[in-house]
Amino acid sequence: MNRGPTSPPAAEARPESPAGCVAEPLRDWIRTRTGISITDQNQAPVELAVRLEAERHGLDPARYLQRLLSGGLPPQAFIDAVATNESYFFRALEQMRVVVTRLIPERLARRPGQPVRILSLPCARGEEPFSLAILCEEHRIPPQSVQLVGGDISATCVADAGRGLYSPLALRRTDPELARRWFTPAGSRAWQLEPALLPRVELRRLNLLADAEVVLARRFDIVFCENLLIYFDAATTVDALAVLGRLLVPDGWLFVDHAEWNIPRGAFRMQEFDGCVGFRPLGAPAAGESASGPRTGRVADAPSRGASTPPPTRIPAPLPTRASGPAASPVSRPPPRAAPAVPLRGSALTTHLAQAQVHYRAKRFAEALRAFDAVLTADPGHPLARLGKARVLADCGEDFEALEIAESLLHGAAAGGLKLAPADQVEALVLMGLLLHKKGLKDLAQGYLREVKRHDPHHPSLGLLRPHRPGDADA
Ligand SMILES: C[S@@+](CC[C@H](N)C(=O)[O-])C[C@H]1O[C@@H](n2cnc3c(N)ncnc32)[C@H](O)[C@@H]1O
Repeated sequence: MNRGPTSPPAAEARPESPAGCVAEPLRDWIRTRTGISITDQNQAPVELAVRLEAERHGLDPARYLQRLLSGGLPPQAFIDAVATNESYFFRALEQMRVVVTRLIPERLARRPGQPVRILSLPCARGEEPFSLAILCEEHRIPPQSVQLVGGDISATCVADAGRGLYSPLALRRTDPELARRWFTPAGSRAWQLEPALLPRVELRRLNLLADAEVVLARRFDIVFCENLLIYFDAATTVDALAVLGRLLVPDGWLFVDHAEWNIPRGAFRMQEFDGCVGFRPLGAPAAGESASGPRTGRVADAPSRGASTPPPTRIPAPLPTRASGPAASPVSRPPPRAAPAVPLRGSALTTHLAQAQVHYRAKRFAEALRAFDAVLTADPGHPLARLGKARVLADCGEDFEALEIAESLLHGAAAGGLKLAPADQVEALVLMGLLLHKKGLKDLAQGYLREVKRHDPHHPSLGLLRPHRPGDADA
């Protein structure tokens, strides 16, 4: 998700209810322009985005919405603000590994001189296509043999991708040795991708549903469309799959996240290849990647699976890396999984929460995030885990995500659906105040800080609170 400031002070002072804010015309506007389906469950980020963009334009949210929906404001900034840009390097590692160890070499052998074309759409801030670029380098695949294109509807994301500057969280599943080879620290909380890799990915602002086909005007051997269909409703998913089908060569591969495996098949068939699952156009060779069949890998039509089925975990052996032999290769080891296979319960959950807090205090942010996420996988509403995750995100510069979580906690508490201890409520208010202040949205920040003062008149964050001025909203 993206940038920006946020809301007015406390819940009771909000000018618009969440339901009113994300009313049907706005939901339609978002669906028409992005495909994203807004429901009662995922409307909180939209509500936040409205407040942020309204403040940026110096308008109250109702007036801002009226101008946005009537075409009086350019749509891109709001589209950027509502799109969830969560991603990290090597997220789809099983699929990427099969791509670099099997699909690319076999295609190059079959079609000498013809590069293998790979599309990452959506690519968020470039984490996915640059992961592929790194793996290509590690597997000594020359740049001219692979064309990598990354596209995303968010102009901000595409611009960020072009800079190659990442927060530590983007590297949370990256093997430290690999990180050391391909990133250098940039300040205390950022990592710069090796600049020589930047030109390996052609970056475009693309809407899969509207302009991707026209802009790209070429077909791809492999398309990664991970973690996008999950935001679409059934009809939009069918439209998206039709576009993806036309973007693929007849014997191409489409990869989606395992949570999206239950997509309507239509013109695709699910196929397992060397421990990884992909989708193939119906006419693609049934018995493997090449006409002569696979060299060593297992290929089979995969049974239909539900969205909750975990992905295969077997990782094919790597080719030798440029820096070391296979045995020592950092990419030969699978990354730690985000959540334990068995859902956490009772004391295991408490232990994970305590571990997460220890990691956080020791500034081991990636480990802290993993532990908070493990708790949230077991109990998605867990207030302490949500607050802890918001703190980690804020410390790693993922301001909007942090704001979003803190805001939704306060919202839940104000609506009475969530029990938040007084100290945790103050913590969430402080987070809101500090993050908004940091983003230059000082008026909005003041509202939250006044609310902090009401609960804790001596809180250290109140150094940022300015004296009450006429026209300031009451806390
Ligand atoms: C959760 S990220 C997934 C990024 C990456 N593929 C991954 O799996 O980590 C979803 C991305 O989809 C983008 N997006 C949303 N609607 C889109 C559309 N219609 N066309 C292209 N990108 C879109 C968002 O901007 C966001 O960056």
